[in-house]
Amino acid sequence: MSTIGVGVIGLGWMGRVHSQAYLRVPHHFPDLKPAPRLVTAADPVAELRDDATRRYGFARTAASWAEVLADPEVAAVSVTTPTDLHAEVGVAAAKAGKHIWIEKPVGRDAGEAAAVADAATAAGVQSTVGFNYRNAPAVARARELIAAGHIGAVTHARFRFLGDYAAHPMGALSWRFTRARSGSGVLGDLMSHAADLARHLVGPLTAVVADQATFIAERPTPAGATSHYATATGALAPVENEDWAACLVRFASGARGSLEASRVSVADQNNYGFEIHGTKGAVAWDFRRMGELRVSTGDGYQNVALATEYVGPGVGEYAAFQPGAGIAMGYDDLKVIEAANFLRSISDGAPHGPTLDDAVHAARATAAMSESFHTGTWVTL
Ligand SMILES: NC(=O)c1ccc[n+]([C@@H]2O[C@H](COP(=O)([O-])OP(=O)(O)OC[C@H]3O[C@@H](n4cnc5c(N)ncnc54)[C@H](O)[C@@H]3O)[C@@H](O)[C@H]2O)c1
Repeated sequence: MSTIGVGVIGLGWMGRVHSQAYLRVPHHFPDLKPAPRLVTAADPVAELRDDATRRYGFARTAASWAEVLADPEVAAVSVTTPTDLHAEVGVAAAKAGKHIWIEKPVGRDAGEAAAVADAATAAGVQSTVGFNYRNAPAVARARELIAAGHIGAVTHARFRFLGDYAAHPMGALSWRFTRARSGSGVLGDLMSHAADLARHLVGPLTAVVADQATFIAERPTPAGATSHYATATGALAPVENEDWAACLVRFASGARGSLEASRVSVADQNNYGFEIHGTKGAVAWDFRRMGELRVSTGDGYQNVALATEYVGPGVGEYAAFQPGAGIAMGYDDLKVIEAANFLRSISDGAPHGPTLDDAVHAARATAAMSESFHTGTWVTL
């Protein structure tokens, strides 16, 4: 199979990023087969369909996602719709025998994530999920260092996903703020990334105790489809899910940690990252300085420095992008890696990168945080 027909369902921010990523795979991974061929793009908004044809060269577009799944030339689909459609579209895609690259959080709750995962398993299709921060070469390096024991046994770790996209009180009440369309708020949106990254780097989460809050109770209704960064002037309506969440976490290894996520954190623009401490060292990473891993190893224990390592070729997929260390990669590059892993999964018949099972784990973790907030007690996973 030298090429594979691809469909993209939902042409907002993530639909554009997925489309661009497919197109860029042959630039960065020229030997990877099958190479993606953009066949059908679906969105109810006509301007977005026209834009997708013009920019990315899809062979055809459709107003309805069902047409993408009915297209015999489409063998793999990206599901980049608002979260309420993930389960319906994802299950239907699996039943139609399409391989699935789906955005996080998969569905509005763990039950919806599990429904898509079960359907993919039953259909024998490959899947991957948009936990893109795993793909940063510096994160891959952190994982290697931890696994090889360079920081000793992990003792405690902090993961943060702090954003200001909804900090403006007149920030538009987009689909992200309603239970019917989004399910949870920042728990699904940003905490799902934190939970996945924590599990990827430190291991299984076994228990959480959490708190959450909604600081902006009402927001103006937008006139039509809008970005979640946009402001609006319409009538105020209630925000139905949480703006902020945090938890203490216990890991199966005995390590302890904290996870915090916010969409209303004034002065935090995509402040995502972690600090992981072990008995002999530490690693720390900030998404906004993607190519830098801060590392402390050795036997000094006290007064030791955290040195900056610029990741380079040989670390993760860095070599597919740049020839020497210290040349900045970007968010969209992480999606090119995700697309490449998705295509590798299809050719190998085995997963590369995060799968729907990982999405179920993340959804169970965020559900446990919500339960803990309501009960005021530790919740076991
Ligand atoms: N991995 C990440 O870092 C990341 C970042 C942003 C968003 N996301 C996830 O991606 C998903 C989409 O988010 P977004 O920011 O792109 O949202 P968005 O609002 O920008 O885009 C959603 C698009 O889906 C379209 N849509 C609505 N109903 C549809 C239908 N029935 N059929 C086809 N298309 C339909 C909308 O018209 C819109 O163009 C969400 O699940 C979100 O959580 C992930």
